[in-house]
Amino acid sequence: MAMTRNNLLTITIALLFFSLASGHSHRVVPPETVAEDEFPPQPHAGGVGGWEHPFYFGQRSFQTLLRSKEGFMKLLPSFTSRSWLFRGIENYRFAFLKMAPRTFVQPHHPDADVVFVVLQGKGVAMFLTQEEKETFHIEKGHVVRMPAGTTHYVANTGDDEPLRLAAIFVPVNIPGSFQVFFPAAAEFQQSYFDGFSSKVLSASFNVSEELLGRFLRGPQTGRKAIQTISPEEIKELRKHVSSEKHKHQGRLWSPFDIHSQEPVYSNEFGRFYEAHPERFRQLRDLGISVTCINMTQGSIFVPHFSSKATFIVFVESGCARFEMAKPHIGSGQWQQQQQEGPQWGGQGQEQQWGEQEMTGKIHRVVSQVCKGELFVIPASHPVAIITQDQNFTAVGFGINAHNSSRTFLAGQGNILSKLDTAEKRLTFGVGKEVSERVFTSQDYSYFVPTHQRRQQKPSFQSIFNYAGY
Ligand SMILES: *[C@@H]1O[C@H](CO)[C@@H](O)[C@H](O)[C@H]1NC(C)=O
Ligand SMILES: *[C@@H]1O[C@H](CO)[C@@H](O)[C@H](O)[C@H]1NC(C)=O
Ligand SMILES: *[C@@H]1O[C@H](CO)[C@@H](O)[C@H](O)[C@H]1NC(C)=O
Ligand SMILES: *[C@@H]1O[C@H](CO)[C@@H](O)[C@H](O)[C@H]1NC(C)=O
Repeated sequence: MAMTRNNLLTITIALLFFSLASGHSHRVVPPETVAEDEFPPQPHAGGVGGWEHPFYFGQRSFQTLLRSKEGFMKLLPSFTSRSWLFRGIENYRFAFLKMAPRTFVQPHHPDADVVFVVLQGKGVAMFLTQEEKETFHIEKGHVVRMPAGTTHYVANTGDDEPLRLAAIFVPVNIPGSFQVFFPAAAEFQQSYFDGFSSKVLSASFNVSEELLGRFLRGPQTGRKAIQTISPEEIKELRKHVSSEKHKHQGRLWSPFDIHSQEPVYSNEFGRFYEAHPERFRQLRDLGISVTCINMTQGSIFVPHFSSKATFIVFVESGCARFEMAKPHIGSGQWQQQQQEGPQWGGQGQEQQWGEQEMTGKIHRVVSQVCKGELFVIPASHPVAIITQDQNFTAVGFGINAHNSSRTFLAGQGNILSKLDTAEKRLTFGVGKEVSERVFTSQDYSYFVPTHQRRQQKPSFQSIFNYAGY
């Protein structure tokens, strides 16, 4: 998770530009009727019929930092620079790190709490505070929470696999913006000791200014924020790795495997794992949940919503189609803003949006989301995920996940099937027979096959016909 000051400056400028430039390209617009075709081809940029909405983030949305043969870090601009709809998650930043085999990210500390998930590979992570120093083995599926201000390094100890991490940063100084502090200078980064006068440092360390100069501005040739390390150095780093027993003491930064518990939803069409803040001490104070979804081709994660958590979903492999219902928001002031050219993001605009009103209209937000791309699902917004000819895996970070629960709107056990006959009639205005059929014909819960997949399975023909499709 390293980043240089120069690069940060670049991002700031790029962000400023982005927020100025992104004007009218992220409108949310009324849905177009989806074609008869079950899965009409989607424009890659998301949105039915070429319309765009702000919930999809393609690869080009990322700012690339630190690109070198040793690795790179990609950072998503602050969510509010994309749309005011993300004010609720303005203090969260998403980042992605990839390290080549046998590399090392120099020790540093961010002014942000961090939660990261290992997507691929294995390595070693060291955490250092005034009180403690601990080194852990990390590997695919591990979730790590790092408190703000923790000095740490990460090393890819693998011989041939990259180490890939997806992370959420929660800045503690400036909402939606964080910095990184390095003790040692390297190619594009200065040491934080450069922030002090020689006299102060010389007295603080009780060494001559000359020695200090040699130490701080020593041989920097070839030193980088991410650098290659030798097999011997890897062996040395590994020496300090805490034992398994130690690991389970449940310190704030102890890694845990998200797959170590049973999936919360699982069948032949998909599996859903969730590390909930109520369950994992590491995530409790941040109120962030970490989820992992695996779907097989031709499956649907049926329409559902999270009561309080907004999910930032990053695709790890394959492609899937996200469909989401989003209420249209109306407001006199908002529309005026739009006519004058909307101003997305930026500081101090809170007042300008005024009260938002319900219009009763629903937008259908649709995106094809593939590996390396991201989709944001706001709290309480019903969403479905559909796979076609590829298996699909993604990790999700749930923001405000404390006491958030998931409600399913289809599949066996969906909440609407719990309405009794009179309630269904009052709600939907249809008789018992029709509503029974609609709400009880699906035998599967959570993950169900698509029509295409069902048709390949004779055993489901009867249900299929009965439902009148
Ligand atoms: C500073 O260093 C000198 C020489 O190494 C030593 O004699 C002295 O005690 C040190 N003073 C302090 C305050 O550390
Ligand atoms: C999910 O899918 C990925 C890639 O397809 C696979 O590597 C991983 O082991 C799967 N996770 C689980 C828990 O099955
Ligand atoms: C998808 O996953 C299933 C089971 O996990 C596997 O049998 C199948 O070969 C995979 N399909 C593809 C296209 O990778
Ligand atoms: C979650 O719910 C429990 C019990 O209903 C309550 O005691 C607790 O304060 C809630 N936590 C948060 C963060 O809202």
